[in-house]
Amino acid sequence: MLDVVVSALVLVVPLLAYSLYTVKIAHNFVRHRNLQLLLAGVLLVAVVAFEVDMQLHGGWEKIVNKDESSPRLGPEQLSEVRRILSIHLVFAISTPLLWAATIVLALRRFPNPPVPGPHSRLHKVLGWLSTVDLTLTSVTGLWFYYVAFVG
Ligand code: HEM
Repeated sequence: MLDVVVSALVLVVPLLAYSLYTVKIAHNFVRHRNLQLLLAGVLLVAVVAFEVDMQLHGGWEKIVNKDESSPRLGPEQLSEVRRILSIHLVFAISTPLLWAATIVLALRRFPNPPVPGPHSRLHKVLGWLSTVDLTLTSVTGLWFYYVAFVG
């Protein structure tokens, strides 16, 4: 399951870039909306499945040190990985909140089908913040994955 989430995190960034291309260059607002809703759905399912799977296996520290007789990470390394996880969590927790706000406001305030209008200014600010937040979630998530499970 962890590998599925890692793949989703990697896939999401080019999809997001494509969605921004459709809105900024191609001015295809309907496709942009649909891609953003699809992305939000994929992320939600991946993250919920990941959390359930992780908790079912006793948490990441148990998974990392499966073999109790020879733990892969010692106490110092574990505390370093925990520090990286706490950085990741800052972005991982704020991202869904920001995405939910961006999507709910966009669906309410843009007409259907969506076209630029009075909500554009706020949407651009929220949209770029959401984009940066998700990218940082992805980068720090991969960093955590690497130090905890690969390196
Ligand atoms: C979390 C989800 C979303 C993100 C991250 C996002 C991101 C963005 C960004 C960054 C831009 C500005 C591009 C630029 O600088 O020109 C933009 C534009 C736009 N988005 Fe979204 N968007 C999201 C969801 C939606 C939804 C659900 C709708 C429709 C209901 C929508 C409709 C639009 C429209 C109409 C524009 C053009 C605004 C204009 O140029 O005046 N977006 N979006």
